[in-house]
Order: sequence, then C-alpha cells, then structure tokens
Amino acid sequence: MQDNEEFKLVVRRKKRASLVRKCSDSKVPLADDGNNDSDFDIDYETLFRTILEAEVELRNSVFADDVFYRLEDSLNALRLDGVSEILCYGLGHFSRRRASKYQLALLLLLRKYYNSRVHVYDPVFYLREIQILKRFNCNVIEINEEGKRIVQDGVTLIYMPHCSIYLTNNFLYTNWSKKLSKCILLTNSFSIVTDNLIKANRSVSLDYVLRIRPYVTEIPLRNNFTYKDVFSDLNIHIFLEENINAIPQSFWNKRDEPCYQGTEIHYLTAAQTERMDLTNRCTKDET
Ligand SMILES: C[S@@+](CC[C@H](N)C(=O)[O-])C[C@H]1O[C@@H](n2cnc3c(N)ncnc32)[C@H](O)[C@@H]1O
Repeated sequence: MQDNEEFKLVVRRKKRASLVRKCSDSKVPLADDGNNDSDFDIDYETLFRTILEAEVELRNSVFADDVFYRLEDSLNALRLDGVSEILCYGLGHFSRRRASKYQLALLLLLRKYYNSRVHVYDPVFYLREIQILKRFNCNVIEINEEGKRIVQDGVTLIYMPHCSIYLTNNFLYTNWSKKLSKCILLTNSFSIVTDNLIKANRSVSLDYVLRIRPYVTEIPLRNNFTYKDVFSDLNIHIFLEENINAIPQSFWNKRDEPCYQGTEIHYLTAAQTERMDLTNRCTKDET
C-alpha cells in the first residue's frame, strides 16, 4: 500500500469460538491443555514433523497470503523494508493445542520470510517445546519479562496471539517513545479489546493502550484460515510517522510504571512463574 488513506477502519468481527474467546481480555491466563503439566508423552520427532506440516499447510493458505500482503503494506506505509526481530509472547502449548501449533507455524513463516531473529516466551512451555523452538533457531527467553522487553533499533514485529491486553500495555510502557514507529504489533485488535473493557468499566489500568490508541493505525486481517479460532481477532497495529510526530514530548514524558492492584490481569507475573519453577524443582527432587 502506498497511500495511508487505504488503511481501513477496523470492522468488528463475529465472536470467535468459545475456547479462545476470552483470551485477549482473558479470564483464562493459561493455555487450556487439560492441565497436564508434563511433557513425558511428547515424541520429539513427531512434534517436529507436525510443526513442519502445519507450516506447509499455512504457507499454502489464503490467510498467510493476506498476512504477508498486509505486512508489506504496513512496511511500505512506515517506509521500512524488513523485520529484523520478532518478539513472540504467549504461544501456549503448541504440542497439544491446534491454535498454538498454527500460531507457531505463522511465526516460523514470518521468520523465514524476513530472515528475522526470533525471541519467544511463554511461562507454560514444556521442556520438549523449548527444545523444538531451539531447533527452529528461536531464542527462547528464559525469564518472565511480563512483556517488558526493550526493542532494539531495527524493526520489531511483536506477535502476541490472544494474549492478555495487560502484556501489551506493559510492552507499550517499556517502549514508550517515538521508537514505537519501528514496531509492528500483531496482536488482538486494540479497538475490540479496549471497547469491550471500556463498556465493562474495566479499562482503568490500561493507560498506555488507551493513550496510544488515537495514534494507532489498525489494519484488519481476514480471519479466513480453515480453523477460525486460531487467528481470530488478530490485527496488525502500526504507528505512522506523521501520527507519532504530531504527539507532544510531554505525552511521552508521563510514564509511570503500570500498577494493576485489584485488576484481573490475565497473565502470569514473574513472581508467580518463580513460584511455579520452585514447585516443579521441589517435585522433581522428591521423585
Ligand atoms: C489465553 S492463552 C493464548 C494461547 C494461544 N496463543 C491461543 O491462542 O490459544 C494466553 C497465553 O499467554 C501466556 N502467558 C501468561 N503469562 C505470560 C507472560 N508473562 N509472558 C508471556 N506469555 C504469558 C499463557 O501461558 C498462555 O499460553
């Protein structure tokens, strides 16, 4: 796309399938995998092949064509010519869940297409899943950053499929500057999530998402993949230079750390992850 005018206003879509319906503003912080927190029955080679097959299936889909077409449009509008880093949070258990598997497949397609470095994190990953991600040359982040990773100078694609909007809020807070114009967010639709939260009177602690919203250009993706729950409500969000440049410096200077006391944030905090790791270590020691 050459002309920014071509960006269309995001259109509200039908609600997606029940399992992941709540994910963007989720009451379900964890991937629902039937609460099995062990990976003993996952066959490494089978899983590897399954992901490769999913990648091929997705590559041949009209959904993937649409994603790449719209990302190219976005890069043109931003006058940028590639994606050097991809930061992915919240894939979930791709060894067990179809949605997570195809979301990983998209991550791998994006990585190949743009030849990007990939950083990926989900506190629930199994050891086997981490091994597979490493085999695909992904850098698996080892600590729970709660979305607060500082982006490098290049172009970063932030991919958070059906993640808590509070993780997005944290990401914006951490990178709260004109540098956002080099970030492309492939996340749940800002407009859908924030409208829902405003209606439910639950948007108070979403300061950064709400403040940046008037300056975001949201590019809708067509949800036309075979399985509608996989990429539902995901849109591309970009920050056009002319919009970002119109913002006064005082806007960026006001930057207090988000405080979510009394809010259902729907993501795992670093403290919770540490407790989980500790429990896992103790259980292993006991066996
Ligand atoms: C609602 S699920 C979405 C899973 C999958 N992407 C899907 O669409 O079904 C949200 C995911 O965010 C992950 N998550 C929770 N806290 C996180 C954190 N601090 N950083 C990254 N991911 C987190 C959960 O483990 C879970 O896999």
